[in-house]
Amino acid sequence: MTTFYEAVGGEDTFRRLVHRFYEGVAEDPVLRPMYPEDDLAGAEDRLRMFLIQYWGGPNTYSQERGHPRLRMRHVPFVIGEAERDAWLKHMDDAVRSLELAPEHEEQLLRYLVYAAHSMMNA
Ligand code: HEM
Repeated sequence: MTTFYEAVGGEDTFRRLVHRFYEGVAEDPVLRPMYPEDDLAGAEDRLRMFLIQYWGGPNTYSQERGHPRLRMRHVPFVIGEAERDAWLKHMDDAVRSLELAPEHEEQLLRYLVYAAHSMMNA
């Protein structure tokens, strides 16, 4: 069975998605201060590995980081509506830049909206 990961173009697609997302984060006054000053690249690697694993690609994320426990890992950060909306704006831009088939784009966005809402803790 073809995974979503394969159907949308594999690693290259997720690399472009997450790179584009962090280009947005790098310029964002709400989000940028939440990340390590000298290490957006590390955050980019972690998010890319997670999304690849989630959508059926290699499980490198869990090999390196263990169980995702994403809500727990976000507890140190205050994530309210402003943070969620900023995160989703950059993710929405990044997803649209991929020019996926409409049904794939919709599926990816639906998940990301749901996940971003579930990460709120403030
Ligand atoms: C890590 C912010 C939503 C996945 C982080 C980090 C920050 C952050 C500041 C630490 C950076 C680092 O890895 O060093 C936010 C904000 C969100 C949000 C403001 C707004 C809703 C999400 C969502 C997902 C996600 C929806 C998944 C779909 C991850 C992953 C990591 C991470 C995989 C790395 C965890 C680890 O292995 O340590 N996030 N995040 N985040 N975030 Fe988010």
